[in-house]
Amino acid sequence: MPAVAMLFYLLSSVLFILGLKRLGSPATAPSGNRLAALGMLLAIVTTLVYGEILSWGFIIAGVVVGSGIGAVLAKTVQMTAMPQMVALLNGFGGGASALVAAAEFLRGSAAGENILPNVSVSIQLSVIIGAVTFAGSIVAFGKLQGLVTSRAITYPLQKILNGALLLAVLVLAGWIVTGEARIDAFTAVVALALILGVLSVISIGGADMPVVISLLNSYSGLAAAMTGFVIGNHGLIIAGALVGASGIILTTIMCRAMNRSLANVLFGAFGAAAAGGGRIAGVAGAVGDRMVRQISLDDAAVMLAYAKRVIIVPGYGLAVAQAQHDVREMADLIERKGGVVKYAIHPVAGRMPGHMNVLLAEANIPYPKLKDMDEINPEFERADVSLVIGANDVVNPAARDQADSPLYGMPILDVDKSHHVIVLKRSMNPGFAGVDNDLFYNENTSMLFGDAKDTVGNIVQAIKEL
Ligand code: TAP
Repeated sequence: MPAVAMLFYLLSSVLFILGLKRLGSPATAPSGNRLAALGMLLAIVTTLVYGEILSWGFIIAGVVVGSGIGAVLAKTVQMTAMPQMVALLNGFGGGASALVAAAEFLRGSAAGENILPNVSVSIQLSVIIGAVTFAGSIVAFGKLQGLVTSRAITYPLQKILNGALLLAVLVLAGWIVTGEARIDAFTAVVALALILGVLSVISIGGADMPVVISLLNSYSGLAAAMTGFVIGNHGLIIAGALVGASGIILTTIMCRAMNRSLANVLFGAFGAAAAGGGRIAGVAGAVGDRMVRQISLDDAAVMLAYAKRVIIVPGYGLAVAQAQHDVREMADLIERKGGVVKYAIHPVAGRMPGHMNVLLAEANIPYPKLKDMDEINPEFERADVSLVIGANDVVNPAARDQADSPLYGMPILDVDKSHHVIVLKRSMNPGFAGVDNDLFYNENTSMLFGDAKDTVGNIVQAIKEL
């Protein structure tokens, strides 16, 4: 590579870093995305201009087909299906890195070349991490898309078997690096790494998939960086390292906000029994021997219309119902009647990082109205009404005071401190963690059952008629 190509790769890496930095805030994220895309364009053009091109036909076909599929997916994939789309993209990234490294290995072997140990190590790592990422991501996609069971599949000696598989892969790869083994051992490494990817992810519950996807994203970056070493591409090494590092940081942030360790997510089989659990309350609202209060739609509309301070707490159910535009209309109506509406954003509300921010931004809800947990929590005790829309775990007081709860220790939104709480959901079914929520039985809490979009739409009509 000539020095000028290195310079362009360096420039594209600077654009990636600036882009990543700007992704840290919703206000600057769109420009960050554009900067990073510009960096990627520069890196691709540099490779095409200064690299050794074997077939322009294949490259053009790849660009046309790949861009076409990407454009269609970007336009059509629903916000709630974003995690599985990211899973697929990670999988393809890992798979592509593994294929490039494997091609280099096969080419070198066929030509009888003596592959240098440093390149050989990079090839093996790229193939192993890439294959694990590919297979794991496909399983993660299948779980989130409902193609395979989202339950954590567990069986005896699972961890020992996975550990033995990993050891076998590493021993075989080490044997290849020493130059004593070749194609058969290499095929075994690829096959075992693919099996390891499948087995590592099937033992994780569907609800933990966003964390796993973030981790696999990190792996795909590592695989790309290794491939960068294999083919001597500095742009790929830096971009891969950035993806690897940012993926692991995001994974850590998600685990912390859920009050779980990464080991617990990977090996805890969370969701093995809880998934699909939950009970449905009767119309009268009795759950076991505990009573919940229900509020009529008209009463909820009156309460909201005349409240001075309203805090809306969005959760996963809001995203499922796609009620964000109706929520915006309702908030506008409340504000026209003199109330102040703010939105309380929990870091892991929904199913992916920034889920609620993106959802509410779609409805053009101004960013200054979106308040982080630490900022909004002191305000709940002054709120006349907190309206919880499709959120459950992130407002569960058990996280504060029940040491035996799986949620214990997770920071939550202090909704229960408001004067009135209206919870909008379809039933008494639990949320992601599969646990009951004491908030629903509090004296100042009223339940309004129904699909979030229908209910908020009806509240809008009722407020208009007041
Ligand atoms: P959840 O605790 O999952 O609760 C969502 C609630 O929405 C459910 O109780 C459900 O009750 C209700 N719902 C579903 N569809 C609805 C609809 N159409 N209309 C109205 N309500 C509907 O959600 P949350 O409070 O946002 O908490 C997120 C959970 O996901 C946390 O436990 C978090 O740790 C976990 N998690 C988050 C992430 C990220 S990064 N955000 C990643 C992995 C896991 P009904 O069925 O009764 O309607």
